[in-house]
Amino acid sequence: MDRLRTDTAHVWAVDLERETHTLAEALSADEWMRADRFVFEKHRAHFVAARGYLRAILAKYMQCKPGELAFFYGEHGKPALAPPWDKSQLRFNLSHSDGLALIAVSMRHEIGVDVEHLSRKVGQMKDIAKRSFASGEYERLCALPREEQRRAFFCCWTRKEAYLKAMGTGLTHSLKNFEVSLGRKAELLWIKKGNIEDWTLQHLEPAEGYVGAVAIAGKDVEVKIVKHLLRDLCLNKGVN
Ligand SMILES: CC(C)(COP(=O)(O)OP(=O)(O)OC[C@H]1O[C@@H](n2cnc3c(N)ncnc32)[C@H](O)[C@@H]1OP(=O)(O)O)[C@@H](O)C(=O)NCCC(=O)NCCS
Repeated sequence: MDRLRTDTAHVWAVDLERETHTLAEALSADEWMRADRFVFEKHRAHFVAARGYLRAILAKYMQCKPGELAFFYGEHGKPALAPPWDKSQLRFNLSHSDGLALIAVSMRHEIGVDVEHLSRKVGQMKDIAKRSFASGEYERLCALPREEQRRAFFCCWTRKEAYLKAMGTGLTHSLKNFEVSLGRKAELLWIKKGNIEDWTLQHLEPAEGYVGAVAIAGKDVEVKIVKHLLRDLCLNKGVN
């Protein structure tokens, strides 16, 4: 396995608009079935590319071929490595927005990642924040100058979603039961259950116009952004 220590997490940023034919060959029959359920070709292509990258990246750590990996899905749909690959203790999570995907990988600690494009249409931002965010987050958002609110909203949103994706619940868990910062530094301010000291939360700006966050259920984990070359990911000759 490529070296990944328990005190380090890697976040790979990948462009889903690139030519990814070689990576797509590794998808399993059930992933192709999922791909074929998308109504819009663009969404189908992004799903296929994201899965192809996910397999290629995980295969680098596992030193196997991308097509050999198998996934298991948690109660709320969070993918994880299925036996026998789960013995590696490698954890991962994926998020995509507008042609960009982030793939976050850690060792032993559960991990969640989220990314959004700042231009995403969200309707009435303040109404959503009032309905969904913790009251402290809503109040801090409203107190900001108008021109800073969109960015703060997405920083807050991606931090909250990254945390819930690390937990594996996704949005089935209330967004009001914990609070995060809205500024440049990502911080978990309080959680209803557990200890905030046991978590690492980091702000991400993977490309112009995007904000994101990674949450790791481990203390003081160092997050490294990994630059990739598609060519490097295809070095394992053959994908299946
Ligand atoms: C997880 C969730 C927050 C993702 O929201 P999103 O912003 O639309 O999408 P993102 O691009 O950030 O993330 C999608 C990826 O998260 C991962 N994921 C799916 N469910 C997850 C969960 N419960 N926890 C963590 N990660 C999850 C998958 O890899 C997914 O990618 P894929 O669809 O290509 O397999 C949202 O789908 C959710 O709340 N799901 C849980 C409840 C649910 O709807 N379950 C139905 C399936 S059982």
